[in-house]
Amino acid sequence: MSPPAAEPAGVVDGAACDLSPADDAMLARAAAGGTPVYLYDLRRVAARAARLRAAFGGRVGLSFAVKANPNPVLLRALGGMVDGLDVSSGGELAQATAAGWDAGRISFTGPAKRDPEIRAALAAGIGDLVVESLAEARAADAIAGEMGLRQSVLARIAPDRVPKGFGDQMAGRPSPFGIDAEEAADTLAQIAALPNLRLAGLHFYSGTQCLRPEAVVENWRIFIALARALAPLCADGPLRLILGAGLGIPYHLTDTPLDLSAVAGDIAPDLDALAAEGRFARPVLELGRYLVGPAGWFLTRVVAVKDSRGQRIALCDGGMNAHLAASGHFGMVIHRNYRLHLVGGRDGGGDGEIEPVNLTGPLCTSIDRLAQGAMLPRVDPGALIALHMSGAYGPTTSPVHFISHPIPREAVVTEGGEILAADWLPQSDRPR
Ligand SMILES: Cc1ncc(COP(=O)(O)O)c(C=O)c1O
Repeated sequence: MSPPAAEPAGVVDGAACDLSPADDAMLARAAAGGTPVYLYDLRRVAARAARLRAAFGGRVGLSFAVKANPNPVLLRALGGMVDGLDVSSGGELAQATAAGWDAGRISFTGPAKRDPEIRAALAAGIGDLVVESLAEARAADAIAGEMGLRQSVLARIAPDRVPKGFGDQMAGRPSPFGIDAEEAADTLAQIAALPNLRLAGLHFYSGTQCLRPEAVVENWRIFIALARALAPLCADGPLRLILGAGLGIPYHLTDTPLDLSAVAGDIAPDLDALAAEGRFARPVLELGRYLVGPAGWFLTRVVAVKDSRGQRIALCDGGMNAHLAASGHFGMVIHRNYRLHLVGGRDGGGDGEIEPVNLTGPLCTSIDRLAQGAMLPRVDPGALIALHMSGAYGPTTSPVHFISHPIPREAVVTEGGEILAADWLPQSDRPR
């Protein structure tokens, strides 16, 4: 469990920091091995998983979307915290099994799956192949037939409506993802007739990064209504139901954190009614950032400082190349600063005054910005900056090869508080 935040370690961009001085010392220790570095606190991930389970009172299982963070040490640790994984490529499946996961506990979602990936997934014994179209189901059926298997599949359905409040939406408009709800009855009947597949349930994922409890609940109600309507087309026996969670995290100081108990309280009667009908097994929430985002930080060191035309600019050793999302170029329409703080800032800020500073990275492009006008104690060369909410969509979404700066290191804090290197090496054996 994470240690309680005793007193603030400094300011986060002008507001109180939720980290304790011990946490700040942990960040400094992780950075001592070299920056830029991502640090993931496994104690906090475990606490978040436990809090999620408790909030829903055992009504749902948890599946972690590997795309959010495929770090092998994290994936291994998650084995004891969540019920399953969802992968979206043959490469992610290879990462997950290399980290010790049994393929039978893994689902494989994702558009444009290629035949070799499907073949590799079936050969590994994937639990559920999530088919996103009739064409993909036919391809999977042919492969299963060749291999002499009957593969369990879930059909991914794209609802015709996504409530307002999601950062990105994958349905409710023309979309490459899943089977459009309007065509689902006809398509599912054809999938169910394929001889080498067993249509064992339904998968929904239509929006990410939602901080509004009522929108999350409304979205799940849309899923549940569709699931009830389509269940008669699926196989006999309790069906699997994956609810893409869409739970958001407060990246920015102006964000109000999602009220998880409001979500859980509101949806509980719907989940209880569904359970009483007996047609579906316990639904599974599929999610990534909510579990790991707030448990990770990106640490970058200031290489130089320039006062330019009235603004102070701190040039950091990792920027957009190492953390695309924080630079505002991944899922953000208007750039807003991530929560961030100056490590050791409480002691290092001279007379404690805070002042605006722009944080930029090492790339030769003006879009390489980490923060604009962040309110911090004085930032000098050598200062260490911690960007919060960085445990998801970090290194793997970033253009790490652009201008050939060092690829960010990754490290974890173990249950015992130890900091361990956890470097992620791209798989060279991804199915082609
Ligand atoms: C199919 C699917 N599942 C799960 C996720 C994870 O979303 P999040 O990290 O917002 O929980 C995504 C994100 O795009 C997704 O597309």
